[in-house]
Amino acid sequence: RPAAVTCTAPINIAVIKYWGKRNEELILPINSSLSVTLHQDQLKTTTSAAASRDFKEDRIWLNGREENINQPRLQSCLREIRRLARKRRSGSEEESTPCILSYRVHICSENNFPTAAGLASSAAGYACLVYTLATLYGVETELSEIARQGSGSACRSIYGGFVQWLMGERDDGKDSLAQQIAPESHWPELQVLVLVVSAERKPVGSTAGMQTSVETSPLLKHRAEAVVPDRVKEMCEAIRQRDFERFGQLTMKDSNQFHATCLDTFPPIFYLNDISRCIIHVVHLFNTYYGQTKVAYTFDAGPNAVIFCLEQTVDEFVSALRCCFPPESNGDMFLKGLPAGPAVLSKE
Ligand code: DP6
Repeated sequence: RPAAVTCTAPINIAVIKYWGKRNEELILPINSSLSVTLHQDQLKTTTSAAASRDFKEDRIWLNGREENINQPRLQSCLREIRRLARKRRSGSEEESTPCILSYRVHICSENNFPTAAGLASSAAGYACLVYTLATLYGVETELSEIARQGSGSACRSIYGGFVQWLMGERDDGKDSLAQQIAPESHWPELQVLVLVVSAERKPVGSTAGMQTSVETSPLLKHRAEAVVPDRVKEMCEAIRQRDFERFGQLTMKDSNQFHATCLDTFPPIFYLNDISRCIIHVVHLFNTYYGQTKVAYTFDAGPNAVIFCLEQTVDEFVSALRCCFPPESNGDMFLKGLPAGPAVLSKE
């Protein structure tokens, strides 16, 4: 078994948003959600983990800075992976051989994009941490359940392609899991552009933001109970049928409703800025001009836009954007990607 591994995990972009928990500790959501996982080479986290008898304690470095390993969410992930590794080992022949399970680990994680700018950095970060530790310890099951305990949206980055996170009903969270609804190869024409409007840290983090929304927003309750269940079903169908018109409309409506619940939160939370709103206008103008949904936007907990369109529309839409946002203005970074999933880079 290797004593050091390096893995990558990509970010995922929710097209039906998760916002609100019914259990803060286990990270159980108030509604199911659905996302597209981006391509490996684009926005991703790379994590290395090494185990050694020489290490005196578990330690972690994020983007070159040592962080406190005793944060509850990190500890949950470490504890759960080690529990599964122990379970897997008990009774097997390996039991009598020296085991890295008794060693401490050092973990080093890097993002190739701004952390906490509303670009799903926690999703890629925790998915990668769990995947890396699992590879190190030889654990293969329950990864989405463990990643969920790091950050809710992280459970969806365990899979590539189109992924649904079923909210589940049980109090212990055993049925609150991610599952792939279609692989990355299902819809290769679907392209994703990430428009980085601002790389600054978001003013209100998702964890705190959704907590206030659950406490104060009647719209969020209505959304979770009366809107999302049907929307998730419809979105699954749109994806299965590769129906961009339906996929795009649902994506935009769900993003808009999520930001409406942020406004309905008291005190209100503003994630979009003037540039975000301008991008929304450009998309609707573009679609109106063609008389059909050719482009769709979605925004997470920050001002950065994620655009979905089909391959044949990319160049034209980018040209339209360039007219509105000349290169010297902010929104000039365009990244393209296709859906993929986590991967092992090396084992030593
Ligand atoms: C707007 O997964 O970051 O991106 O579970 O508290 O870590 P925690 O929150 P997080 O929330 C993501 C919210 C979102 C929507 C989504 O990704 O579904």
